[in-house]
Amino acid sequence: MKDSAIGVFDSGVGGLTSVGELRRILPHENIIFLGDTARLPYGTKSPDTVHRYALEDARFLQERDVKMIIVACGTVSSVMMTKPVFDGSLPYTGVVYPAVAAAVKKTKCKRIGVIGTSATIKSGAYEQAIKDIDDSITVVTKACPMFVPLVENGYTDYGNKITASIVEDYLSVMKQERVDALIMGCTHYPHLSEFFRDYLGDKVELISSGGEAAKFARRVLEAKDLLSDRTEEGKTELYCTDSVELFSENVETFLGESKNLSISKCVLK
Ligand code: DGL
Repeated sequence: MKDSAIGVFDSGVGGLTSVGELRRILPHENIIFLGDTARLPYGTKSPDTVHRYALEDARFLQERDVKMIIVACGTVSSVMMTKPVFDGSLPYTGVVYPAVAAAVKKTKCKRIGVIGTSATIKSGAYEQAIKDIDDSITVVTKACPMFVPLVENGYTDYGNKITASIVEDYLSVMKQERVDALIMGCTHYPHLSEFFRDYLGDKVELISSGGEAAKFARRVLEAKDLLSDRTEEGKTELYCTDSVELFSENVETFLGESKNLSISKCVLK
């Protein structure tokens, strides 16, 4: 079990923010990642559809004998708060709790912003999780449905005027409400963090939900004595459900030129 891979899934390349952080903090672990690119975006779908997709994604990873599952998708994680995707036979984490725990620690003025897909914001999951920890915190939420297509289509180059103006439009409420911590509640969003930093200034802490989930997963594996004893570098297997060519371009942008990495197409059942 210790040498089994860590399983990670998302609707697309956003979950690579978790994979990148895992590769950085746990370099000896094997990782299996599934990006369900054929059915992206999840964030505009109904909770029932998101739940059905998530069950298939999780099954794909479970069939590959993983030791833990990271749901590196803010949309699925939010929907999962009311409808769990797992039977509890494996340790797993979504991104909501790890991101919220980090934000509550970071905010000094007790004003936290949350951005995410429409489904995520509609679910109220982040807001509820923050209030469960500290009811006196003001939470400002904003659905940002244009961000995922911008990231998936490569509009991430710093200085891109289209992206900058959409960022300004979505984040103006965060400026007005003077939040000092912003949860990027969709795992795609850290790919736009230079734009967020530029617009909000460096006094606002940006919290990567996917990155925090990876750190949380390390703590879970440590506590369960499930970290690998391997001494050589781990392998990363990436799977997507649509064109490998398109996915590969994004992978290189987000993970850089990486060794020990394979990319294949798969079919979900
Ligand atoms: N990365 C997913 C999330 O965190 C993207 C959502 C989508 O597919 O719309 O919500």
